[in-house]
Order: sequence, then structure tokens, then C-alpha cells
Amino acid sequence: MEKVGLGILGMGTVASGLINIIGINNSKITGSLNKELVINKVLVKSLDKKRDVNLPQEVYTTDAYDVINHKDTQIIVELIGGISPAYEYIKAALNNKKHVVTANKALIATHGEELEELAYKNGVSLMYEASVAGGIPIINTMTDNLCANEITDITGIINGTTNYILTQMAENNLEYEQAVKDAQALGFAEADPSSDVEGDDAAYKLSILSTIAFGQRINVRDIPKEGITKISKEDISYAKELGYNIKLLASASRKGDEIELRVHPAFVPASHPLSTVKNEYNAVFLKGNAVGGLMLYGKGAGSLPTGSAVLGDVMHIVKTGGKAKIDLKKENKYLIANKAHKQY
Ligand code: HSE
Repeated sequence: MEKVGLGILGMGTVASGLINIIGINNSKITGSLNKELVINKVLVKSLDKKRDVNLPQEVYTTDAYDVINHKDTQIIVELIGGISPAYEYIKAALNNKKHVVTANKALIATHGEELEELAYKNGVSLMYEASVAGGIPIINTMTDNLCANEITDITGIINGTTNYILTQMAENNLEYEQAVKDAQALGFAEADPSSDVEGDDAAYKLSILSTIAFGQRINVRDIPKEGITKISKEDISYAKELGYNIKLLASASRKGDEIELRVHPAFVPASHPLSTVKNEYNAVFLKGNAVGGLMLYGKGAGSLPTGSAVLGDVMHIVKTGGKAKIDLKKENKYLIANKAHKQY
């Protein structure tokens, strides 16, 4: 059977999920592709660490270019996160005519345009379903299933950490600081939770979603954002008394020639479907001019859900041969009504 070679940059939670899914669902995956996925090389920080995946020791390397330049590898999966060195590695892979799949929202939100052009120039794909809302297939839903629609609205809970913190404050009457500590203990929040709690993570994701939805490059710096650090237990109980839940919403809507974008804590009526999205779960509400309103709901982070999104992109590339999925010519058709000019 024909083999498709994969190289993985980074060996954290999502990489473990990806490797474990290839193991658990091997016959499903191989049957669907009629090809076998083979992991040729994995970039790790240390060769000595014990890992919870079943790969031969010789696969691991501490040199990213062993992964990127492997002669039998067609697809590079970038799971390091952050801008540098992920940016340099992805550029090297694309210039080396390898397809790239990434879960890196910060990189796609800030350098997506340049990287997509580079992929296009080299005749390969750059796919990033896992960069927004973990296991929820939001990007491919917009680029494929809803491609006949003009999307007018996106409203989402797209940060699981803050949703966990707000849910715990509401349901267990916790102070903000205690809920953050619990989120850290459970592995949802980082040791430095600022990117989540200040709203940056949601803003990166909103810039990716709105770029796709409106066919216009939306710079993350233009998105006004406010995080959840100033929300108190009292705010949450007043909201409850009035019949609302406080949620960190990321929203983008187009009215005529104007787009309005925002990441902010909001009062959501208890009867609204987004109010029922609890803990680390994510949900995205979309409106298309043909399909109407729809909501996608699921796990916005985690090893297997995010690994599932990565593998979906890998399999799409194998099935289609890898094609640019989104329109690269993104003219500025719309004005951004409430530009923020934030520094990232
Ligand atoms: N920190 C992110 C979240 C992880 O809490 O949603 C997934 O992008």
C-alpha cells in the first residue's frame, strides 16, 4: 500500500492526541485514504523523556530540519505554538514543497497572509482547522459547506479556559483567583494565563474566523478586546438574578459595508443556547444569508479533540492532493467600524 510520510514539529498534548488517533483508528483512516500514514520524524526537546505514545525511539530528533527535510515526508504538522521558531520552520517546509498543517492561532492570525501566499507559490497546502475551537470543525464548515453563503455574523465562545473560569465562578460561587487556580490545576489554564484571561487568544481566533467569513484580511490588532480579569463573583450573581450568564464572547458582524468585531465579557440571557455552553466547551453561532443561523458546539481544546482536527486536515490533503482552500485575493471590501489598534 502507498505510504504518506508525516513529520511532526513538537511533542505536546495535541501531538500525543494525533499519534494516538492514528493508532486507535488506523483501519478507519487507512481504509478511507487507501494509503497508510507513516510518522517519519518527530521534533522533541529532549530524547530522554518517557512518552505516552507508541513510536520507535529513532523517530525522535532534536533537529527540526531532520523533520522538515526528510525525503519521504510530504506533510509537516506544526504543533510547537507561538511565533518563532514555528514561523521559520513553516516557511522552510513550504519552500521545501511540503504541505503544512498547524494548530497555531497566533501565527496564522499574524502571519497567515504571507504563509498562505508562500504555500500557493509552492503549490502546496497550508491548513489550520485546529487553530480555532479545538475539535469543532468551524473553519472547514465555512470554507467548504457554507461556501455558497455570505456570512454576516459570528458569535462564539472560543476560549475554553475563560469559559471554565466563568462557569466555576457562577456554579460554585468561586472568586476569580480560585477559579483560575482550579483551571491551572486541571491543565486548562497555563502557568501564565494572561493570553486567555486578557482575551488575546479569543482575538487571534476571531481574526482567523472573520478573515474567512468576510473574505478580507482582519488584523488581530484591529479587534477591540477586553478579558475577564475584572469580573467578580458579585457581577456574576447580579447577572444570574437578572436572568443572565456572563460569557466571554467573540463576535463579528457585517452590516452593509461595515464590519464590527469585538472580544468582551457579555450578559447572555439564560435562555440563549450560548448560555448553556459550560466549562471548557466552545460553541460558535454563525449566520449565513442562505443557510440562516446555525451553531457548532464541542470541545475547544484537549489532546484527542484537537488531534482530530489536525488529522482531518492531514487526511483532506491526502485525499485532494492539497489545494489552496481560501481565496488569496483579499481586497478591503468592508470598513472596520470599531478599530482598536492594539499591540500584540
Ligand atoms: N487556551 C485555549 C483555550 C486552548 O482555553 O481555549 C485552545 O486553543
